Amino acid sequence: MINLPKVQTLKPKPQPRNFFIWGSPMTGKSYFASYFPNPLVLNTDGNSEQGSAPSIQIRNIRGENGALKQSAIKQLDDIITALQVDNPKRSADQQFKTIVIDVIDDICVMIEQAICLDAGVQALSDIPYGKGYAMFNTALQQFVMDLKALPMNVIYISRELSITDDNTGVTTYEPSLKTKYYNIVNGNCDVVIRTKKIGDGQNASYFREVKALRTMYNPANITDHRILQLLESCSGMFKKEDLEKLQQKKESK
Ligand SMILES: Nc1ncnc2c1ncn2[C@@H]1O[C@H](COP(=O)(O)OP(=O)(O)O)[C@@H](O)[C@H]1O
Ligand SMILES: [Mg+2]
Repeated sequence: MINLPKVQTLKPKPQPRNFFIWGSPMTGKSYFASYFPNPLVLNTDGNSEQGSAPSIQIRNIRGENGALKQSAIKQLDDIITALQVDNPKRSADQQFKTIVIDVIDDICVMIEQAICLDAGVQALSDIPYGKGYAMFNTALQQFVMDLKALPMNVIYISRELSITDDNTGVTTYEPSLKTKYYNIVNGNCDVVIRTKKIGDGQNASYFREVKALRTMYNPANITDHRILQLLESCSGMFKKEDLEKLQQKKESK
């Protein structure tokens, strides 16, 4: 029989684990993510050799007959199994502690492609009774939930979309991940960060601003020193008073 919990008011000390980072190209998304503890990057754009973090290239590979030889869905599934089963068996310094999805937009396209190739159709809408879309949602949701269940930090990276209103001429920026996918991914994220670059070439400065927070995080609760440092570099992450309190505590020690 199930044991129900006691009725009581809990005092959680929340720490963010799931991050969503978006920004235009070359604004430091991959760079920022690579500083998280022991990262493993699931790469989609083929420029993984340029990063400093170990990476796995995700893709659909077709055989000579055009059918799927390696499905991205299966590949992602295998990686998650390896992280669940093999990663904890490694020595502490060889264990991955962060998984980076660089970029989630492409992963969504690959999942879509894999379903279409498997069914021998051109688009999800060609699969009758909306079953194509249902299969896609299940695959994406499963992927996101599996990642969340891992005892690791998860970072989703997305590109930026700029939309200019024809009437007012005002430009707004948002993640390029389609809204319905964004909702699935973001429902499972704690912090949304936008990266920005000001200036060019050698004069470039890189900025990170927090766009959404699941709850108010207190820097004193962040146990990993490196993550604390990274989050402190994002404007709007912590309350100023909390940071000052932490600083005072450090000094008095
Ligand atoms: N905070 C930073 N400080 C110094 N250089 C940075 C910083 N962020 C990014 N860069 C530089 O900008 C380049 C592009 O960053 P990258 O993370 O690859 O961009 P993105 O993934 O957003 O396309 C990197 O090679 C790095 O040299
Ligand atoms: Mg990048």
